[in-house]
Order: sequence, then C-alpha cells, then structure tokens
Amino acid sequence: MYARIRPYFRYLQPHRGLLAVAVLCGIVAGVASGAGLPLMVNKVFPVIFAPGAVPLTNLQLALVALWLPAVFLVRGVATYLNTYFIQVVGTRVLEAIRLDFFRKLQVLPLSFFQKNSTGDLLSRGLADANQLQVTLTTIANEIVRSPASLLASVSYVAWLAYQNGGVAAVLVSLAVVPLTVLPIRYIGKKLIKRAGQIQAELGAVTGVLSENLSATKEVRAFSLEEREVARFGRASQLLIRAQLKFMKYEKALTPLIEIVSAAGLSVTLVYAYGRIDQTTFITLITAIYAGYEPIKKLGSLNNEMKRGMGALERLEEVLNIPLTIEDAPTAQALPRAKGDLAFANTTFSYQAGELVLLELNQRIPAGTVCALVGPSGAGKTTFANLVPRFFDPTSGRVTLDGHDLRELRLADLRRNIAIVPQDPVLFNDTVRENLLIARPEATTIDVENAARAAFAHDFILTLPLGYDTIVGERGARLSGGQKQRLALARAFLRNAPVLILDEATSALDSESEAAIQQALKQLVIGKTVLIIAHRFSTIRDASLILVFDRGEIVARGTHAELHAGNPLYRSLYDRQQGS
Ligand SMILES: Nc1ncnc2c1ncn2[C@@H]1O[C@H](COP(=O)(O)OP(=O)(O)OP(=O)(O)O)[C@@H](O)[C@H]1O
Ligand SMILES: [Mg+2]
Repeated sequence: MYARIRPYFRYLQPHRGLLAVAVLCGIVAGVASGAGLPLMVNKVFPVIFAPGAVPLTNLQLALVALWLPAVFLVRGVATYLNTYFIQVVGTRVLEAIRLDFFRKLQVLPLSFFQKNSTGDLLSRGLADANQLQVTLTTIANEIVRSPASLLASVSYVAWLAYQNGGVAAVLVSLAVVPLTVLPIRYIGKKLIKRAGQIQAELGAVTGVLSENLSATKEVRAFSLEEREVARFGRASQLLIRAQLKFMKYEKALTPLIEIVSAAGLSVTLVYAYGRIDQTTFITLITAIYAGYEPIKKLGSLNNEMKRGMGALERLEEVLNIPLTIEDAPTAQALPRAKGDLAFANTTFSYQAGELVLLELNQRIPAGTVCALVGPSGAGKTTFANLVPRFFDPTSGRVTLDGHDLRELRLADLRRNIAIVPQDPVLFNDTVRENLLIARPEATTIDVENAARAAFAHDFILTLPLGYDTIVGERGARLSGGQKQRLALARAFLRNAPVLILDEATSALDSESEAAIQQALKQLVIGKTVLIIAHRFSTIRDASLILVFDRGEIVARGTHAELHAGNPLYRSLYDRQQGS
C-alpha cells in the first residue's frame, strides 16, 4: 500500500528542507516522550519520596524538581515545531494536488464532462484532495516520530532491565505489544470499505446541491421544493449512514488497544511481585505507557492510510484519464488559416455503437457561408463540434487547409476559430474582461468597435458601470439577448478565419435580430462560416446549405435549389414561414 501512495510523495519534494526540520523536531519530541518521561520519573521520585540520610538544600531540591518542566519544555517545543511545520508543508501539498486536479480538468475531453457530474467532480477536487493532504502529512509525520518514541521507550525499558535483572517482567510487557496489532488489522480491513463509500456519498450530496442550485427557477416553476428537499435528505441520509459506520469502527480502536494494554500491565504486575522496587516499577510503567502511545498512533496511521487510499483512488480516476484530445508529438504549427474545411468519410458516435454522423463527405471551401439545417437531433451541432476538436471523429477525418486537425497544434487550431454558442457563458467579471478573452491584446478601441459591430455598445453603456460592470455568475445579470450580443462581439474581436454560429441569434427579438443580421453580414465577410439557425432569414443568403437528417447530409445546394428540389428542406422552410 505504501508503494501505491509513493508516487505522490513528489508533492513533498519542494518542501524537503522544512520537512527535514519537522522530522528532526519529531524525533526530539519522540525521544523526549519515550525516554525523557520515564527518565524523569526515575530521577525525581526517589529523591522526593525516599529521601537519603542527608537532607537536600533548597537549591538541590529545586534542581531536582526542574526535571519536570525541562522534559516537558523540550517535548512541548519540539512537538509544536514538528506539528506546525508539518501543517505548513501539508497546506502547500494540498494546494499542489488541487491545482494539478484543476489543471487536468482544463484539458480533459468534453466527453468526460458528459459522463461525470459536476457535484462528483467538486467533491473529488475539494474533499478528496483534502483527505489526501491529511493522509500524506500524517504519514510523513508519524512515520518518524512514533517509531522514534517507541524505540526510545523500548531501549529505556531494556536498559532498566539490564541494570535491574527484572528481565522477565520486561519481556512479558514487550510480548503484549504485538498483540495490540491484531485488533488494529481487523478494524483496518473494515475501514477501507467504508472510507471509499463516504467520499462517494459526499459526492452524491454535493451533486444534488449543485444541480439544485443550477435549477433554482425550475424548482419554483414546477413546485419541486418538497421533492428536492426529499432528494437531498436521502443523499444526506446515505452519507450519514456511511459516516456512522466508519466512526463505529474507528472509535473502537483506542479502547481496544487500551484494554489489551491493561491486560498486559496486569501480567507485568504479577511478574513484578517481589522482583523490583516501587520506583523502578513506576518508571517501567511510565516507559511502557510512553511506548503504547506511538503504537496507538501507528494503529490509527493505518486507518489514515486507508482513508487516504480511498481519496487517492477517486482523484486518480480523474488524474490518470488519458488525454484523447491533445497535441500529437509531431503537431504542426498553423499560422492564420485560409479556412478550407473538409470532412472525409467522417463518422462519429458519442457512445460505442450509436452512430450520430455517418460517413460524411463534404468540402467547405474557404470563404463559404455554409448553413446547416435539419430536424432537431439530426447532428448539426455534433458536426460543428468536430471543427474545434471538441470531439475527434470515430473514423475518417476532418481537415483544415488540407491538414488533418489531429496533426495541428490544438492551440493554433482553436485560435483560428471563433464560436458563438446558443447559450454563451460569461465569466463573473467585467464586460470588458469578458470580451477581451477573445483577444487579450486588443485595445479599448478594438473592444468598443467589436461591441458596436455586435450592437452591444449601446446597452453596455446603459449598465451601471458601462464596460466595467460585473456581469454576475455565468452572466446572470444580463438578458439572454444581451449575452448573445456579447458573444457576437467576442467573435468580432477574435476575427478568426473560421466562424461557427450555433443558434447564435435565437435569443434575440425580431428587432435586434434584424440589426444583428446586418452585423452578421459584416462579420462573415471573407470567413468560412458554419451557421446553424432555425430562422430561415439567416439561412437564405448562405452560399451553401447542407440538409442534415439522422446523421447524414441528405441534400446540399443553395436556397433556391433546395427549395425547388428537396422535400425535407421545403417542409422545414414552409413550416417556419407559416408560423
Ligand atoms: N453528449 C452526447 N452523448 C450522447 N448522445 C448525444 C450527445 N449529444 C448529442 N447526442 C445525440 O446526438 C444526436 C445529434 O445531436 P446534435 O446535438 O448534433 O443535434 P442537432 O442537429 O444539433 O439538434 P438541435 O437542432 O436540436 O440542436 C442526437 O440524437 C443526440 O441525442
Ligand atoms: Mg444543436
């Protein structure tokens, strides 16, 4: 098990120095407990309780009494420095693990997020990372201090035995030590099963919470309050049940060890009868007690390890996912693309066996405004998603300027594409910053020109702080149409040779839509455009229209050609004109 957790000790690497000091302090603290305490008893008790013939001076008495604070001072200071430094290292380790986890989330393929719930990922990134930190630092700490303390106390006992001849008593006392390991092992086995369970249930609770928070409107509109509370209650119940089971075993550990220890002590007592004097016995008991403490710690270390393993497994499930969409080792740089797109025998499925795009062959020459139409679920969005490599084709390929997309540097490819999604997401930042993500080096003038072109400038100026207004989480303080116009402004600012508009104007009223149509006409000039729109006003002017049906392109041409020759297109068109 140690071998499993070992790769993660690299997180401790940058903090070697501090860790070494901490460990050193740990050894001092361990020795001060294991040998210092019994030594103190041995030095102080006989002088105080069995005075010799010559009475001590006040100074001598004071010096003897000072043994007590002296031992505790060393032990206290060393323990403090040890635990404090370990905490410092631990906090930094947590930061690194969490950051690695977050970094991984940035590059995972989108398909990953369709399989894993937000709540579950949240709990992995927070609770499990936290648990791993606790485990790593506890182990790093105790793995030195407890054995040091144990070794010191055992050595001290051995030394006592050597001097005193009460060897039998000592040996019997020591024989009890391995016995305590038995309950530790038994409980440890039970614990590992529970530990993973707790984190999983915690993920479920977080899941219900985060889903609920993203559906505040639906809950009220459909009167789901009771249902949601019940759902959360059930998840919470399962979590509590797992936690209680874990505690039941964990809390049994200390008493178990103590009972076994007490039994051992009683055996020691019997053997001590008539063999050793009182001071030696009390010293011995102190030494043995000082030795049980680290055994207890090492026992709980075992449980800590199991809890850590549970958390680690859940983190690894994310950290070790192979990146399916990343730069090939031979990836080529791509300066500004011309924008010549081609799909060759392109097949795609989200789940094995369920084809969503079937052997598509289609060239979209640079500068074409290409509209994708077809019934809902026909595969239009999926088709467009292949271009920025949100997904890779299951077979066949997609090319840009003749290069297979998988042979291009991902960052270069994506720099050449501007996307306006149906439901654009804004960051909880100012309007200006939200626009600048499209081109960080843009000037204020560029930003305002882009906003003007997208008919967003006027409404931005009416916001309380203009371009410096914070838009709220996901852009919550703006209307759907306003968000879409900001998304369009981003596309203007990005000025990329390939433009993808997926229902980009669906949230606009007819008046803004008319204005945006004008803006779009400007935006598409000289670019390769994939435009998905339900409104045919947008589509009519396209130079190429692809009609999708159940994953296939069933017809292609201009509006006039298709309206004359394709029944599906005509029915789609006429239905909308009628409404
Ligand atoms: N993440 C996914 N996992 C599995 N199947 C998916 C996923 N996304 C879409 N699909 C399926 O793929 C098919 C095509 O979906 P797509 O989103 O491309 O349709 P669309 O033509 O854009 O439809 P709409 O006009 O409603 O936006 C649908 O049958 C859909 O159920
Ligand atoms: Mg779609």
